[in-house]
Amino acid sequence: MRKKFIISVLISIIALLSCFRVQSQQVTEISVLSDKPGADVQPTMWGVFFEDINFAADGGIYAELVKNRSFEFSLPMTGWRLLTRQNGTGRMVANFYSPSRPSNPHFMRVYIDPAVGTFTFTNEGFRGIGIHKDNKYNFSVSARLSGNSEIKMTAEFVTPEGQATGKAELSGFSESWNTFRTSISALQTGQKNQLKITLSGKGSIDLDMISLFPEDTWKGRKNGLRKDIVQMIADLKPGFVRFPGGCIVEGRDLTNRYQWKTTVGPVEDRKMIINRWNTEMEDHLTPDYFQSFGLGFYEYFLLAEDIGAEPLPILNCGMSCQFNAAEVVPLNELDPYVQDALDLIEFANGETTTKWGRLRAEMGHPEKFNLKFIGVGNEQWEEQYIERYKVFEKTLKSLNPEIKLVSGSGPSASGRLFDYAWNELKKLNPDLIDEHYYMAPEWFLKNSKRYDNYDRKGIKVFAGEYAAHGKDAMEPESRNTWLSALCEAAFMTGLERNADVVNMASYAPLLAHVDAWQWRPDLIWFDNLNTIGTPNYYVQKLFSNYKGTKVVPVLCGGNPLTGQDSLYASSTIDNEAGKLYIKIVNSSGRKRPVLLSLGALTYGKEAVQETLGSDKPLNFNTIANPRLIYPASSAVKVAGRKINADLDRASVNVFIIDFRTR
Ligand code: AHR
Repeated sequence: MRKKFIISVLISIIALLSCFRVQSQQVTEISVLSDKPGADVQPTMWGVFFEDINFAADGGIYAELVKNRSFEFSLPMTGWRLLTRQNGTGRMVANFYSPSRPSNPHFMRVYIDPAVGTFTFTNEGFRGIGIHKDNKYNFSVSARLSGNSEIKMTAEFVTPEGQATGKAELSGFSESWNTFRTSISALQTGQKNQLKITLSGKGSIDLDMISLFPEDTWKGRKNGLRKDIVQMIADLKPGFVRFPGGCIVEGRDLTNRYQWKTTVGPVEDRKMIINRWNTEMEDHLTPDYFQSFGLGFYEYFLLAEDIGAEPLPILNCGMSCQFNAAEVVPLNELDPYVQDALDLIEFANGETTTKWGRLRAEMGHPEKFNLKFIGVGNEQWEEQYIERYKVFEKTLKSLNPEIKLVSGSGPSASGRLFDYAWNELKKLNPDLIDEHYYMAPEWFLKNSKRYDNYDRKGIKVFAGEYAAHGKDAMEPESRNTWLSALCEAAFMTGLERNADVVNMASYAPLLAHVDAWQWRPDLIWFDNLNTIGTPNYYVQKLFSNYKGTKVVPVLCGGNPLTGQDSLYASSTIDNEAGKLYIKIVNSSGRKRPVLLSLGALTYGKEAVQETLGSDKPLNFNTIANPRLIYPASSAVKVAGRKINADLDRASVNVFIIDFRTR
């Protein structure tokens, strides 16, 4: 069975790479009409899709290193291990429950056996705790003593071999809850450390919010985000950040849907819930996957602002995931859901005198976040969705007409549900329709003209989730192979050529932990210390970094170059920057000489050609070999208005050409 599958994949790859037989010496003439710019390319054209899947938030971009810091997982000792024998009075009780703190009711009580005098336990982190030698880590704990207790605490890093590699001490605990802080310096670098806590003295102590963060975070923000991961995202120069998903918005059921209000304010008051990806994938179960919401809506807005992207929050529309519980809120009970949307607009854009605007200011951001878009529902379908979308649209368009509404077209790229959604939404007034397609690589080649025949004056498209998928998530072909990236690039020339229809696009999902993923492929992979870009990442980066502001026609034999002889092209211009960008994807198995004729502008004598490629379609980048597939820059001559260049076999090429209009 497996053999048959591999053979069929290989046959389709060979077919792809030799779709058209072209003599290697034949020069393809391509005209780029840079003096005839057409549609605008929206600043939002290329963005990112962030969902807390694959440990993207807790264990990923949110730099907290302690798993289950507040003992709120369904099994309160998940992530924790007791090293002290629990006999006599030396014991730990983790499910103390305090109804007076409804959002964080559990805490842990430790009794120290007077005969032993110490109590030791560890936290395993998120598949280990990654630390860098000589870096500092901020440890904090909320604690209170019971009467007549005298207890000191030691917190240390321990390697898998049991060696201590950094230590700090805390004392001064009292009978009321207080937060205590110290810093630990790492003595050596390692991925799989544990945090070991030793309590010594007599009596008992209550502990909560046991937390450890690197001091060196993105922008140096205390208890903030992992710098290397954010940098990778920032390097894409995304036009928008879509958050928080994805199916996470919907929840497996409505109780566990994403509710933005429980993700803002002090972190210890953000109510932790299960992550819907926890048990979703049978072959990749992650029972220790919860949402602490340390990365909440405030942090998402800040992230978008930091990297110059528009925030695009997606809100639950009164439906849980239709692949799971498929719960639907009756139309006459939708008010709280619509109110959440109105309050979110106030949180982002309201004056600091308003309830939610004040909270934003108290959290440290009196300036408005300038929210412009809201997505209503994620990947819903059928009339249940349309009916609920209508309710949101009616209120939001009348109270906040300045906000652009993004509606959904369901989980597939075509078919009954897709057609139904489009037909119904055309009668309404969404600004954008979100389309999702996780399809085979060949689909992306065949569909590079998908948007050529869309109504130019109709509702704009948000290609909100797409990725070329191998056959089976467990097979090597399902990785972020060069083949998948190449086919996505060919398709993206079609998105760019149709920028008057497609205003936003994002690959999905964005992030994955190498030891804790549920879904692949994904754009960026990381472990506890390193982050790598996939070939698909570099494709996204080339398109986004060389975005341009207007589309320019690219013709071959008088027709748009949309796959003839396995070449796919698009071009944009940025008049202000004086740059012309030409993207050409060669999906054939041969090197292709091309002659580019540029339009009637005055060009510099030399241009840059960025080339991304591999002659092995199933190659992919790994943590050990992160730049196996990586863009290479070279200089190409511009002779008047002509460029002679070679396109490597199976390559994505971007020409960056300086020009003057006179
Ligand atoms: O990107 C992974 C999932 O794919 C998203 O959560 C969902 O919207 C889609 O089905």
